[in-house]
Amino acid sequence: SESKKFRLAVIPGDGIGKEVVREGLRVLDFFEQNSGGKYSFESDFFPWGCEYYLEHGKMMDEDGVDKLRDYDAIYFGAVGFPGVPDHVSLWGLRIAICQGLDQWANIRPVEFLPGVPRRLNHPEADKLNWVLIRENSEGEYSGVGGRNFTGRGPGKEVAVQSSLFTEHGCERIIRYAFDLARTRKRKKVTSVTKSNAQQFGMVLWDEVFEHVSKEYPDVETDQWLVDAMAAQFVLRPEELEVVVASNLFADILSDLGSALSGSLGIAASANLNPERRTPSMFESVHGSAPDIAGKGIANPIGTIGSAALMLDHLGLQEEAEQLNQAIRETTRQGYLTRDLGGTHNTEEITDAIIDNLGKIQ
Ligand code: NAI
Ligand code: MG
Repeated sequence: SESKKFRLAVIPGDGIGKEVVREGLRVLDFFEQNSGGKYSFESDFFPWGCEYYLEHGKMMDEDGVDKLRDYDAIYFGAVGFPGVPDHVSLWGLRIAICQGLDQWANIRPVEFLPGVPRRLNHPEADKLNWVLIRENSEGEYSGVGGRNFTGRGPGKEVAVQSSLFTEHGCERIIRYAFDLARTRKRKKVTSVTKSNAQQFGMVLWDEVFEHVSKEYPDVETDQWLVDAMAAQFVLRPEELEVVVASNLFADILSDLGSALSGSLGIAASANLNPERRTPSMFESVHGSAPDIAGKGIANPIGTIGSAALMLDHLGLQEEAEQLNQAIRETTRQGYLTRDLGGTHNTEEITDAIIDNLGKIQ
């Protein structure tokens, strides 16, 4: 039979992004070598990020988004480093790619891995299995606003930062959440807004949620304000399954979720263009962690878990499931980096994951 070649655009980025992407690629190499010639990965590396910015005055090439368009997937590390303002690095690369390629659904599973010290005092934490669905194209990250309004004088500057919600944008992400919920055990969607205070965009979101929910009578629904939801993550975690929220709220809640499950270092994510008109991008939830960069101690699980989401997206469902199983086995055996209270380094975690994969296959 024919061998399938997957073309990957790899953007390691900054700080620990480079260290963890390297590990993810080792895992993909393992799969390729054991695929019996069924498939292979061909990686092209793009050196974009803050170092590139300091040298070239831009985070990526002007036609960067177009250069990525023909790949099967994008594998991303993290972006941001002291010396370049965070808004410049984030807008110049990650947001430019997500919005430029219309990767409008950001999927962020939160799994409570075995063997990881509990941060959440809950008798059945091991059974929790959340997935956050983040609107990834508009909302608070629409970039609408401005500064330096003229004539106000020193000390009187005004800045405007507007959120932009479209019916189309709300509907497609909410529908995505319902479709996903249908494939899961609990079949429940929780929508998060702040429509008591944000009376335009978030009320539109709520109305779309109610209208879409009528088409899914088999799916249970719940609606929360974001402040109360933050408390609910801690107080009633068993009530959550699929959680859908705006760009900013889901970003915040996913850091809360990953911290409750152990560490930011284990959270994976997929920036999807569900219509598959453009390549999707797979990256950990965490940033470039300058405080631990270069030490070889970053937890690679978030980025390796993102490779599992990528395998699934590429049609390699069995491999994706094997990889998730190998990750669970690795933490169960006590291979933990420092963020999880362990002493293992980045490479040792990957070695253990690959070792476990070898036993599973
Ligand atoms: P961060 O996620 O980089 O780090 C927060 C804390 O978590 C740090 O103490 C760090 O050491 C720890 N941490 C994160 N990932 C870890 C891992 N894999 N293993 C062990 N510990 C880990 O967030 P921070 O410090 O707010 O931002 C640092 C830079 O990253 C900034 O420039 C920021 O703009 C950027 N950033 C980029 C993102 C992206 O590329 N998607 C997402 C979030 C932040
Ligand atoms: Mg974040």
